[in-house]
Amino acid sequence: MDIFRIEGPVLLAGSVSIKGSKNASLPIMAAAILAGGESSVFGAPDLSDISVFSELLEQLGCRVTKSPDGRLRIDSTVVDNPVGEYEVVRRMRASICILGPLLARCGRAEVSMPGGCAIGDRPIDIHLRGLRELSAKIHLENGYIVAETQGGLAGAEIFLGGPFGSTVLGTANVLMAATLAKGRTTIECAACEPEITDLANCLNKMGAKINGIGSPRLVIDGVRRLQPVEYEVIPDRIEAGTFMVAAAITRSQIRLQNCRLTNMMAVVDKLRRIGVTVEPEDGGCVVAGTERIRPADVTTQPYPGFPTDLQAQFMAMLALADGNSIIVEKIFPDRFMHVAELNRMAANLRKEGPAVIIAGVKKLIAAPVMASDLRASAALVLAGLAAEGTTIVNRIYHIDRGYERIEERLAPLGAKITRESM
Ligand code: EPU
Repeated sequence: MDIFRIEGPVLLAGSVSIKGSKNASLPIMAAAILAGGESSVFGAPDLSDISVFSELLEQLGCRVTKSPDGRLRIDSTVVDNPVGEYEVVRRMRASICILGPLLARCGRAEVSMPGGCAIGDRPIDIHLRGLRELSAKIHLENGYIVAETQGGLAGAEIFLGGPFGSTVLGTANVLMAATLAKGRTTIECAACEPEITDLANCLNKMGAKINGIGSPRLVIDGVRRLQPVEYEVIPDRIEAGTFMVAAAITRSQIRLQNCRLTNMMAVVDKLRRIGVTVEPEDGGCVVAGTERIRPADVTTQPYPGFPTDLQAQFMAMLALADGNSIIVEKIFPDRFMHVAELNRMAANLRKEGPAVIIAGVKKLIAAPVMASDLRASAALVLAGLAAEGTTIVNRIYHIDRGYERIEERLAPLGAKITRESM
């Protein structure tokens, strides 16, 4: 199993180019199922989650190949096995977003029911409710969701809100299914995340008729068929936010290329409030840390609010703020596995229900730590850049799921980080 060895503290300098969005690529790859033929996705990052999803599409009958230019070709001429196997779904929950497209394309889908994960209980009741409203018949059999249509899907008025607001992949599933349903579908309380906007734009390029893109009310007029597509995914706003925190936590200045600030206003606003400078530049930005990080209140919310996927990274940074901060997690109230690990690095964090109170400390001290999920691992790497001494981050396969060779992108900026096999 690989580990990261990180020597800190360091000053960073230079520029980094942000990769394509993982969470936009996955549903867009699933959308290829909707049209028979070869679609191409440009800019999908080279990550284990993308490889697992490619494997899943191949099990369904598609052929997936990657060209040297990074283009992912998905040939969905044949989709003759509409089954999402347990072995794949248990490795990646996002596999659930094949359910809607398979149902629309094949009239039937069987997908293993995802279990919980390190960030908490993650139900899919709203996905199923939405697909039922489109007149799918759904039941659970041996741990598999079995969904069928009799005579095709039919448009409907659907409210997709839940106890924590909208659902990203639930919206993706219902939206994709609705593109081929008979008649008009209206989705109220649709997720507005940029990844859903990207998916909807891609679907429209395939011939779908979706209006209201980017808003919580999507109106979809079903079409008879969709065409294969060539589509480039948006830059990853969570990766961009992670590099911004890398600059802030090391009190350094770095340049981010291929980054859309318009998709990350809540993050940029929070950084500016704590004293970090974020200056837009052609196609990217320059981020400069501050000697005195001011404390902050952060509440995670659905987009355009502050993203839960940057909560752990901000916690590592606020651990070094000049005063007390509070982070309230309103999307995944149990997403705090990094708290105990950061405390092992001499942070002063106290969990109170879905909130963490952060008493800023003058310095973090290196320690061996354990990554528990993707974003928690990123937080530990960031803390390692700022901490005094040698931090060892174990179980880094989590970080490889969402950040493309992060050590090879941090090292040219001046980070002393190496990957070692144990
Ligand atoms: N929820 C329900 N019922 C449902 C679906 C969701 O109660 O049927 C709840 C969830 O338990 C959670 C909230 O609604 O409390 C929002 O969950 P959502 O469905 O939006 O999450 P997701 O679609 O499963 C995606 C991202 C996550 C990201 C969340 C929130 C992908 C592949 N995953 O998950 O990304 O945290 O949206 O923005 O797009 C990550 O990249 O590290 C990651 C976990």
